[in-house]
Amino acid sequence: MTESLTVRDNRTGQEYDVPIADGAIKAADLGKIKTGDDAPGLAVYDPGFVNTASCRSSVTYIDGDKGILEYRGYPIEQLAEGSTFLEVAYLLIHGSLPSKVEYEQWVHDITYHTFVHENVKGFMEGFRYDAHPMGMLMASVGALSTFYPEAGMIQDADNRQMQIIRMIAKMPTLGAWSFRHAQGKPFVYPDNDLSYTANFLSMLFKMSESKYEADERLVRALDTLFILHADHEQNCSTNAVRSVGSSQVDPYSAVAAGIGALYGPLHGGANEAVLRMLRRIGSKENIPDFIKGVKDGNERLMGFGHRVYKNYDPRAKIIKKACDDVFEVTGVNPLLEIALELEKIALEDEYFVKRKLYPNVDFYSGLIYEAFQFPPEMFTVLFAIGRTPGWLAQWLELTQDKEQRIARPKQLYMGDRGLDFTPREQRWA
Ligand SMILES: CC(C)(COP(=O)(O)OP(=O)(O)OC[C@H]1O[C@@H](n2cnc3c(N)ncnc32)[C@H](O)[C@@H]1OP(=O)(O)O)[C@@H](O)C(=O)NCCC(=O)NCCS
Repeated sequence: MTESLTVRDNRTGQEYDVPIADGAIKAADLGKIKTGDDAPGLAVYDPGFVNTASCRSSVTYIDGDKGILEYRGYPIEQLAEGSTFLEVAYLLIHGSLPSKVEYEQWVHDITYHTFVHENVKGFMEGFRYDAHPMGMLMASVGALSTFYPEAGMIQDADNRQMQIIRMIAKMPTLGAWSFRHAQGKPFVYPDNDLSYTANFLSMLFKMSESKYEADERLVRALDTLFILHADHEQNCSTNAVRSVGSSQVDPYSAVAAGIGALYGPLHGGANEAVLRMLRRIGSKENIPDFIKGVKDGNERLMGFGHRVYKNYDPRAKIIKKACDDVFEVTGVNPLLEIALELEKIALEDEYFVKRKLYPNVDFYSGLIYEAFQFPPEMFTVLFAIGRTPGWLAQWLELTQDKEQRIARPKQLYMGDRGLDFTPREQRWA
């Protein structure tokens, strides 16, 4: 039996049967509800897409109430424990786990595309000495489209794969160089003997030594953080990638748009805000006053709350564990004590419990990044590197989805109509 919804329009008394498929009705079906032939169809008003599905997707599953996150059906906890970032990237892009041969080929291909054209280096050096690395990353990724004009042939499956490999491979190079630029340090070229994440650390921190070898525990922790950030279904930046990608532009331009979205403080910038908040609180004794300010509505407890997770964010649990591993190498970040106490109080406080506000992925990630000695401006860059396979998996899905059209939301027009224009000379006379 087909499921349906019966809607009665009280303006006309007319009833409509609207089919339900996959737990959703089509907004276009509501558009058939009109008060007259020439009247506009009924629209759905949904700022922020709180209850609007924009696509069908098989990449990532989230159950916010139960705190579940799965990539292609695999729970994030198992992937974080037993997989690598590049294997997860393969899973997201190809839809299934690789065989040994497929994995080795994938790792080889990505490793051998980490270099960028020398001209990229040239223009990155042209940024101001204090340029924000995320701005540099966004511009550089966008600029890659000029180096690979064939990337615009998005109907060609082989070409799509080529650009996907290039982008995943080059993102750490561009991210590391954005970091080195602000520090006035020379750019370090990729080292193909190293793993994806170890090579990234080398490009970030290598100085005069002939080979940079990061502590394996740090490599693993950063790799895990990349896994945790690899996809999160239709979040703000993924929606930006899909929206811009729906114009059929090349994937570099679409991902540059995603990076722009991720730059914002309510999205990727939250962990930086968490650190600022923890520093401002300063010591455990000041926590009650701070919590009072939050409850009085003067500010937000950054790193708490999520649009989707109304239970514990599963990624936050894994990050908390990674914190221990990293601090074993680097020494404990003194802000951790404040964060733990803040979490303890907030989890018991009625204000937060009632609103289902729990720590999200950003609550602890900033503390780890700081232990690596990343300046806060780099946090979103790290997020972007991790999110790249997810953006590309979603973009790939978009390019093959027959139902997708150019993204073009409706508006409810609230402005004036039909005013008469008076030329400047008369208006200002
Ligand atoms: C993530 C976030 C933007 C989600 O926003 P949202 O789904 O639109 O939720 P709302 O802003 O509608 O919040 C619902 C209620 O909880 C409160 N709330 C939400 N997040 C809060 C926070 N971090 N601290 C205090 N109160 C918070 C709101 O004030 C609102 O209360 P009200 O019902 O009394 O008005 C929001 O929780 C937030 O700003 N968190 C801090 C920033 C952050 O950590 N972002 C990273 C996300 S991964």
